[in-house]
Amino acid sequence: MKTQLLTGHDIAAAAAVLRDGGLLGIPTETVYGLGADGLNAQAVRRIFEAKGRPQDNPLILHIPEAGWLERYCRNIPPEAYMLAERFWPGPLTMILQRKVNVPNIVTCGLDTVGVRCPNHPVTLEIIRAARVPVAAPSGNLSGRPSPTCAAHMLEDMEGRIEAIVDGGPCGVGVESTIIDLTASVPRLLRPGGLPLEALREVLGEVAVDKAVLAPLAAGEKPRAPGMKYRHYAPKAPVTVVTGESRRTARYIRRHLGEHTGVICFDEFAGDFPGCVVEAIGSAGDKAEQARRVFDALRAFDETDVDAIYAQCPGDGGLGLAVANRLKKAAGFQVVDTGEAAT
Ligand code: TXA
Ligand code: MG
Repeated sequence: MKTQLLTGHDIAAAAAVLRDGGLLGIPTETVYGLGADGLNAQAVRRIFEAKGRPQDNPLILHIPEAGWLERYCRNIPPEAYMLAERFWPGPLTMILQRKVNVPNIVTCGLDTVGVRCPNHPVTLEIIRAARVPVAAPSGNLSGRPSPTCAAHMLEDMEGRIEAIVDGGPCGVGVESTIIDLTASVPRLLRPGGLPLEALREVLGEVAVDKAVLAPLAAGEKPRAPGMKYRHYAPKAPVTVVTGESRRTARYIRRHLGEHTGVICFDEFAGDFPGCVVEAIGSAGDKAEQARRVFDALRAFDETDVDAIYAQCPGDGGLGLAVANRLKKAAGFQVVDTGEAAT
């Protein structure tokens, strides 16, 4: 199969790929997605094949407006509409009870479904033109970092899917925040592009799922099945170093070897001579860190480093999502240097 490269002007062609049961790379504000008609079980099955995705990891449905929620969800609580009003289109996925028209293959047999309205004009237009909800996981091969531009998605998916729509680089860079609204207390299942603090402003109390902060014990089941999978498994072990940034830089400097990779804040980029250095933005700029963290992880694939150290931002704002992606890449191998980062 030759993967076609489309642009934001090819709305009709892109919608036709979806309507014909094909696979379409779609730009969103978070990361690129691998989309198919979410009501077509055959098409959705192909998503799992193209990604090499485990069969127990459900997909989220992308819709163009909150008005579509009732088509696929039932018992929708008022909180869902409050969140949609405030944050959609945007980097927020809500877990709600599903209706029976959502194919089992989308939800992996769960009685809930994840729904999100992405903030990308091209993709919103494509979904409206196709007139179907789009099931889409991130557009990487399973186990690889999520793609934040069309070229990265092509690297993983060339020859496996019908087309990719190039909508430019992703503005957010980490996946959507996932909130489970079916629990008695709303529960954060995955930190992402919408900060936890913003959810708390609307919802009050929000519980944070254990899998967000710590590794799961053997056999333990996370509530978002995908949280048990490692995002990126570099051959070299990754160590995440938490704490105030000058301390973490000092710790990493003391542990450098011959072939060390370092993910650091811009201010420290010159501090690791002889290393493969990926700077991800200044220490105070978490939005920039979010935009660049997956690209930094991806970049180590082409190098021969045998150990990777990463400076880690504090948990406030988008820091929670950046830290979570780094820790997942590290299999939660974390060293704390004390004195929390901001
Ligand atoms: O930003 C995003 O959310 C991107 C873009 C493309 O929209 N999509 C994305 O999809 O990150 P994916 O499949 O890579 O991650 C979705 C996560 C997985 O961890 C999955 O286990 C979880 O959502 N999930 C999906 N449906 C669920 C459900 N019904 N209950 C709990 N977790 C669910
Ligand atoms: Mg993913």
